[in-house]
Amino acid sequence: MSVISINKRFMKNIISLLILIAVPLLASAQNNNGLSNNKKCISMKAINTLEFPQLPYSTGALEPFIDQQTVEIHYGKHQKAYFDNFLAAVKGTDAEKLTILEVFKNISKYPAAVKNNGGGFYNHVIYWESIKPNSGKPSAKLAEAINKKFGSMDELKKQFTDAGKTRFGSGWAWLSVDDKGELFVSSTANQESPLMDVAEKQGTPILAMDVWEHAYYLKYQNRRPDYIESFWQIINWDVVSGKYEAIVK
Ligand SMILES: [Fe+2]
Repeated sequence: MSVISINKRFMKNIISLLILIAVPLLASAQNNNGLSNNKKCISMKAINTLEFPQLPYSTGALEPFIDQQTVEIHYGKHQKAYFDNFLAAVKGTDAEKLTILEVFKNISKYPAAVKNNGGGFYNHVIYWESIKPNSGKPSAKLAEAINKKFGSMDELKKQFTDAGKTRFGSGWAWLSVDDKGELFVSSTANQESPLMDVAEKQGTPILAMDVWEHAYYLKYQNRRPDYIESFWQIINWDVVSGKYEAIVK
């Protein structure tokens, strides 16, 4: 056997080995790039160890439904400011060693800056996860739960849209799961959320829609209903269904 053919076989083996190592590493890197995985860490980690999460897509990926400039400002300026101000608000207090969910459960005991900025940060984490460039459809299990609770997908859309349209001033529309595993639609003011003890009805959000003007004004100006219709076109049903099924399993 010639030296050249030994070298060729050696190189072939090395390349196969590199592929075997690189493919799982690349897959892992892609998974860790999304907010879904970040969120798991975000909800489980002490607040003083959190890092500002990456968007799971590029800022222009939601076009034409949500324009790039809006996403750049919304994510890079608004959410980032909430994050920085949240960390500043808990710095040096016992809260910085707790998780966000632990703090939210007793948010009424904390200063307004913790609620406003903590909600401002974490609500947007759920928001960015709730949408993606190519929408899909709810899983069979979630679709069944929607039909059981609301009668139809159209009725869920109507109630969710109304929750967003009728929120006076700034706030959020939510689809959440209560402690009995039941779906419900609600709206909260400013940066409150169903995870907080100040919410009219508490639960775990699986879908969040931001109706602050900063979420849509550049493209839609005063036409909040048009923004809501666009939001409905880009719901990340894979993530929403996954969250639902994790809660009710
Ligand atoms: Fe926002």
